[in-house]
Amino acid sequence: MTFRKPMLAALAAAAMVVTVTESAETASPEMSAQLVRGKYLVQVAGCNDCHTAGYAPSAGKVDESQWLLGERVGYRGPWGTTYATNLRLAVQDMTAEQFMVRARSPPRPPMPWFNLVAMRDGDLKAIFAYLQHLGPAGEPAPAYVPPDQTPTGPFVQFPAPPPGAKP
Ligand code: HEC
Repeated sequence: MTFRKPMLAALAAAAMVVTVTESAETASPEMSAQLVRGKYLVQVAGCNDCHTAGYAPSAGKVDESQWLLGERVGYRGPWGTTYATNLRLAVQDMTAEQFMVRARSPPRPPMPWFNLVAMRDGDLKAIFAYLQHLGPAGEPAPAYVPPDQTPTGPFVQFPAPPPGAKP
């Protein structure tokens, strides 16, 4: 099939309209792609399962505005009692580089930090950008409780690790 000149001109004009519309919708297309990636990673890597209150029990039916604000239900085991951090408050004064260092340093269980170690720089930067995009909100999660103390609030009890496992 051969195009006649007027048809080509019409196609070119249509292409320009599409381009203009796209750039008007997203001021920074590159940033927008990074945010989409950050949100996707947060969803598929399970960050909401622990860091968003009610997310797992409701099969993910928590409004995005409430994502990653931390959890008041503790995880109690041989390590003491930990609480999934309010990540939106945690990153508010961090640079992307500081976040990458933090994300790759082992915290206490059951945070799956080894999954963050397996992520590429670009993935961690996308998660960081998404956390900053959501913005600071909510309260910090309760403070860590050492193993010899009983937490005052609700917690999930983990059994002791199998014999011979490293603490
Ligand atoms: C199984 C539950 C669980 C999952 C899943 C999980 N986290 Fe965590 N996370 C925690 C807990 C609990 C802590 C607090 C650990 C502590 O107190 O040492 C934590 C701490 C962190 C910290 C350290 C915060 C700080 O200020 O020190 C970062 C960063 C983090 N999580 C990011 C993530 C990201 C990103 C994901 C998704 C890829 C994720 N977490 C998935 C439970 C979880």
